[in-house]
Amino acid sequence: MSGKHESAHGHVSGRAIYTDEVKLPEGALRLHPVQAPHAHARIVSIDSRAAAAMAGVEMVLTAADIPGENDTGPILHDEPLIPAEYVLYHGQAVAWVVAQTEAQAQNAAAAVVVEYEPLDACLGIAAARAANAYHLPVATVARGDYESALSRAPLRLRGEIMIGGQDHFYLETHTSAAFVDSEGLVQVISSTQHPTETQIIVARVLGLPAARVVCRCLRMGGGFGGKETQANAFAALVALTAKLTCKPARIKLNRQLDMQLTGKRHPFFARFEVAFDAHGVLLALDAELYADGGYSCDLSPPVLMRAMVHIDNAYFIAAVRVRGWIAKTNLPSNTAFRGFGGPQGMLIGEEIIDRVARALKLPADLVRERNFYSEPDRNQTHYGQPVVDNHLRTLWDQLKASSQYSERRAAIGLHNQGSGQRKRGIAITPVKFGISFNKTEYNQAGALVLIYTDGSVQLNHGGTEMGQGLHSKMIVVAARVLGIDAKRIQIMTTATDKVPNTSATAASSGSDLNGQAIKAACETLLARLREPAAMLLEGAPEDVVFAADHVHLRHAPAARIGFTAVVKAAYSARISLAATGYYRTPGLHWDATLGQGHPFYYFAFGAAVSEVEVCGYTGMFELRRVDLLHDVGQSLLADIDRGQIEGGFVQGLGWLTCEELVTSAQGRLLTDAPSTYKIPTVCEVPEDFRVAFFERTEASSTQTIFSSKGVGEPPLMLGLSVREALRDAIAQFGHASEVALASPATPEAIIDAIERVRLK
Ligand code: MTE
Ligand code: MOS
Repeated sequence: MSGKHESAHGHVSGRAIYTDEVKLPEGALRLHPVQAPHAHARIVSIDSRAAAAMAGVEMVLTAADIPGENDTGPILHDEPLIPAEYVLYHGQAVAWVVAQTEAQAQNAAAAVVVEYEPLDACLGIAAARAANAYHLPVATVARGDYESALSRAPLRLRGEIMIGGQDHFYLETHTSAAFVDSEGLVQVISSTQHPTETQIIVARVLGLPAARVVCRCLRMGGGFGGKETQANAFAALVALTAKLTCKPARIKLNRQLDMQLTGKRHPFFARFEVAFDAHGVLLALDAELYADGGYSCDLSPPVLMRAMVHIDNAYFIAAVRVRGWIAKTNLPSNTAFRGFGGPQGMLIGEEIIDRVARALKLPADLVRERNFYSEPDRNQTHYGQPVVDNHLRTLWDQLKASSQYSERRAAIGLHNQGSGQRKRGIAITPVKFGISFNKTEYNQAGALVLIYTDGSVQLNHGGTEMGQGLHSKMIVVAARVLGIDAKRIQIMTTATDKVPNTSATAASSGSDLNGQAIKAACETLLARLREPAAMLLEGAPEDVVFAADHVHLRHAPAARIGFTAVVKAAYSARISLAATGYYRTPGLHWDATLGQGHPFYYFAFGAAVSEVEVCGYTGMFELRRVDLLHDVGQSLLADIDRGQIEGGFVQGLGWLTCEELVTSAQGRLLTDAPSTYKIPTVCEVPEDFRVAFFERTEASSTQTIFSSKGVGEPPLMLGLSVREALRDAIAQFGHASEVALASPATPEAIIDAIERVRLK
């Protein structure tokens, strides 16, 4: 299918409305935080008298103002909305000033006097390991006798790696607005990926039943996982303000506050021991993963688990033990970020492959191929799910051919012989990514479809739009099932009073889940419309066909009538024109304690070839060419999917090469603005960028919506090819059997790696 993003015109003309631009009943109050200057401290006292007397100030919110539970934790209840006793990270808000303007709130925040008793802070994974400070007991996923496999194996190596975090850097920072309506209901408009959870947490904080809170989200200017849970606190703050003052309130964090107050991609530290044979075939793996959870648990357990079940990437390892810990640190609470731990797990897996290949002096691509999951006896993951519909080898071979991998490898070898300080490298890496929420209960969705008597349609579903094109795809689904023109369909703001009890739009399953729910609702409507259509067409209901915005009998396509005529007839015959739809993904089960089950409905596959040229003086590199081949199934909207593949890759590239979070010795984030935190821009996009969809011939064994596949996250991990290409180039500066490269591979890290290779 071709077509454009449903808001494309709005995006480029500026007419698309975001949360902060939604009109509220009257002028809204603004909030600004009073931030703690310590990463860990006891709050001795807060004196807000002077601030409260300042111009425009309505009130100063503290923990004492919360009528319900002072907690916004999505899994554990360990996340105070406003801390009463302890500051747990640098910059944490201990109070919020509410004023008529943002400037007034900010001025008054500086006048709030807070007395602290500073405490020792735990900053980072190393400190947490030393102090044994973890949020939860160790999690384990294991299969086979890794111990004896490791001790018997002739070839073994050990390693460790530290992986940096990543700021979401959505263009629209955290934003929420709230007012109390004439019925006393709390109406929340939030830039949230999870309106239902936002509703529940607002209700929790206000001490109200969920039925008295409505949460809406039309669209986000990006979420990337950063608004899966972390929007809840800001929504709760404006809802609390609206409830206490009886005036509308809104909050929009500036970039610096957004970066200081909210969690990021989890930094990880990993230690591993791997056994392999002389061909590079992996025999056993024992790995320890430490994720920096920050001060509260948030979504860290499922993020860690996804890392643990993606450490294999596309490779079969017979005997495995992976253990994982969530470090409890005095940092903002790290959270979901595109890939949800998968990228960190897969980076470790690729790190292991490269070290094995180098130790054996074998080409890394060959070692990758030798370890691929394959039928019949090397297809079972270490968590018990078989890898079926595995097209990776075909895809891989196609990409190798289309990118002329072997020829370019040879040419690069020649180039490097004659080049002093500019070395080139190339790498091909695979992606296998499980699609579905690990937590089985999240894999459900609902929809509400309303047909009006003029033949126009309102489409409500539980998913949120964050730029990924979900709304556009959902219009495609409804139009296809109803056989009508997409122009008839109006997509509605996602709202908890239209479709209740929804899941977060996440895990790349937004269109899989909501698409099926919409299909179910539309099929219900079609079944009802058949009767009146058959009457009009003078045929049998089962022969009625809805297509091309018209309705006809199977054997008489020419004698067609308009869709509107059928709708009108249905209304006259007193047939309901509204229907809900519901879907739950079949066949899933997962035991989080055992780390075993069948958590994913299917796997997404892709592969990438990247070529770089590295400068031995500066550590700067040029991304010369990138070829991506990705399996989107039957694309629902080709241009959107292409955008997801390109954007995902570039976001992965940023995480792996230029985005570096630096924290001071006191725990203050030093890189809290675009001036110090470098995200990739159009300048970093490869000059020669070739993106293709994998064309499948065989049918799939899973019934996805119109045979499409989730595409939101998997392409991010195609970026790993850049890291491996860099390593390939760095190796050319010496003769090392190991290339230790920090992540992110900034120019400093690259120079450092080159120096170490030169010394060997
Ligand atoms: N694309 C854009 N433009 N903006 C985003 O915020 N989020 C990503 C991905 N692509 C995101 C995006 C993440 S983290 C996920 S989980 C998926 O989109 C969610 O949407 P989907 O399930 O509809 O693919
Ligand atoms: Mo995406 S990290 O699952 O919101």
